[in-house]
Amino acid sequence: MIYLRVLGPGKLAEWHAFHAAHKSQFVKERDPVQLEKAARDSKLFVLQTENGDIRGSCGCFEYGEEGDFREIGAVRVLDEGCGLQVLLMSVAVASEWMFDIPPEPILAVTAQDNIASRTNILRTGFEPVTSLSNARLIAMSLASLNPDKVYFQFPLDKAEPGCVSFVRQIKYQGFIEKHGRIIPVQLDIPLAQLL
Ligand SMILES: CC(C)(COP(=O)(O)OP(=O)(O)OC[C@H]1O[C@@H](n2cnc3c(N)ncnc32)[C@H](O)[C@@H]1OP(=O)(O)O)[C@@H](O)C(=O)NCCC(=O)NCCS
Repeated sequence: MIYLRVLGPGKLAEWHAFHAAHKSQFVKERDPVQLEKAARDSKLFVLQTENGDIRGSCGCFEYGEEGDFREIGAVRVLDEGCGLQVLLMSVAVASEWMFDIPPEPILAVTAQDNIASRTNILRTGFEPVTSLSNARLIAMSLASLNPDKVYFQFPLDKAEPGCVSFVRQIKYQGFIEKHGRIIPVQLDIPLAQLL
């Protein structure tokens, strides 16, 4: 069984230990203030084993004075090939939609050559974008888009029929199925109580 849980501010050391032990060139280090805010707001998600070992992660991070610009990232999955990135990102989008609707579309960014992540971001329902508003670039301290990266936004009107409905399905089904493999999943998150 894999448990999907929220990681609170008191557990940030576990987050850092997980990422230090499973470094990836594709996962950038997050600003500590941004990370703590995400933890306080219940926007850090982890996959855990029965005894609490972290096996995956994802977070929703805020930019701008009012936190209007959001990015879902810090995605790391150890048990690959089970569709867990899509589940983590869907939970993050659905949680935003249910608890803290962002005024601007949610962003996801990955490296051009990260085909697995690109595939999964699209499967989650994000759509490619080739430009970002000046306000968002400023909020993210970017002079321009990085040509080595690809950028996606989540169309908010698709959150309910897309991510929310997918997370609801996984909650009642109790497992993820991919390529004939069945992975039992339990969603121990506030969002699941509302579905
Ligand atoms: C990226 C990552 C999160 C994906 O994990 P996952 O949820 O297990 O992803 P999956 O293996 O289920 O799905 C990846 C899909 O991309 C496909 N894929 C991967 N590499 C591919 C390639 N070079 N060409 C075509 N398809 C490719 C896989 O076949 C799979 O598709 P399928 O479901 O049809 O088989 C995981 O590999 C990881 O932690 N990588 C390092 C960190 C990282 O890249 N994080 C994302 C930062 S944006």
